[in-house]
Amino acid sequence: MKRLAGKTALVTGAARGIGLAFAQAYVREGARVAIADIDIERARGAAEEIGAAAIAVPLDVMRPESIGRAVADTVEGLGRIDILVNNAALFTAAPIVEIDVADYRRVFDVNVGGTLFMLQAVARHMIARGGGGKIINMASQAGRRGEALVAVYCATKAAVISLTQSAGLDLIRHGINVNAIAPGVVDGEHWDGVDAFFAKYENKAPGQKKKEVGAAVPFGRMGTAQDLTGMAIFLASDEADYIVAQTYNVDGGQWMS
Ligand SMILES: NC(=O)c1ccc[n+]([C@@H]2O[C@H](COP(=O)([O-])OP(=O)(O)OC[C@H]3O[C@@H](n4cnc5c(N)ncnc54)[C@H](O)[C@@H]3O)[C@@H](O)[C@H]2O)c1
Repeated sequence: MKRLAGKTALVTGAARGIGLAFAQAYVREGARVAIADIDIERARGAAEEIGAAAIAVPLDVMRPESIGRAVADTVEGLGRIDILVNNAALFTAAPIVEIDVADYRRVFDVNVGGTLFMLQAVARHMIARGGGGKIINMASQAGRRGEALVAVYCATKAAVISLTQSAGLDLIRHGINVNAIAPGVVDGEHWDGVDAFFAKYENKAPGQKKKEVGAAVPFGRMGTAQDLTGMAIFLASDEADYIVAQTYNVDGGQWMS
């Protein structure tokens, strides 16, 4: 029996990386998915590759009207939303003395505002149609502990853990489970960018930071998007009904809580 048979999911930032892997995994488990992304061309390509079980939806989580349209498009295309994955996010890094106000606002707007207002819009839909739902926020080990050059991104992910707790406690009375996944270091295009930041600020050769962080993981390597799909399926499934307001580390043993 497929664990998400008959369910529908909206995954933000699903044109590539972890979001795309989740969308593909959900379809393998019997769900239909909306691939929602600011990069709509890539989202369309991803949806086409998945086939009839996927639609592409334009979304900029910084803009409330875009959030409203994406939720409406998904309900029109898939009939309803049972599962939301708040996955879209931006990374930034700089020493404290170089943090730029506009960059700070943009990253907070996407990572924190985007998570909150997507969650709000989908919760309104779930409450109106009844029957509850599952909301999964993408936090990070960066939200568990600050890092010298990563103040803004770390603060956004700490905020995602906090929002998960508050929203989880508020929405469970509607049968909506809100939980989060805190990955460690996951290889992919996102980490290509992180590696480039560290090459700049720590004077490292390209690829060196990736090697270092991979070697520091107790499991012995960086994670892959596939390493996270089991938790994403579980938290979206009926088996997670009694799990409320939690953040789960899926990080090869890096963080314990
Ligand atoms: N890769 C890692 O090591 C890692 C570790 C911990 C947590 N995470 C978190 O996991 C999630 C996915 O990470 P990833 O590595 O796949 O990232 P990624 O950068 O590869 O993908 C992010 C996606 O979000 C989309 N996006 C960006 N801004 C958007 C906006 N305003 N509206 C809609 N979509 C937007 C991008 O187009 C992209 O498709 C993020 O929340 C990230 O913070 C990643």
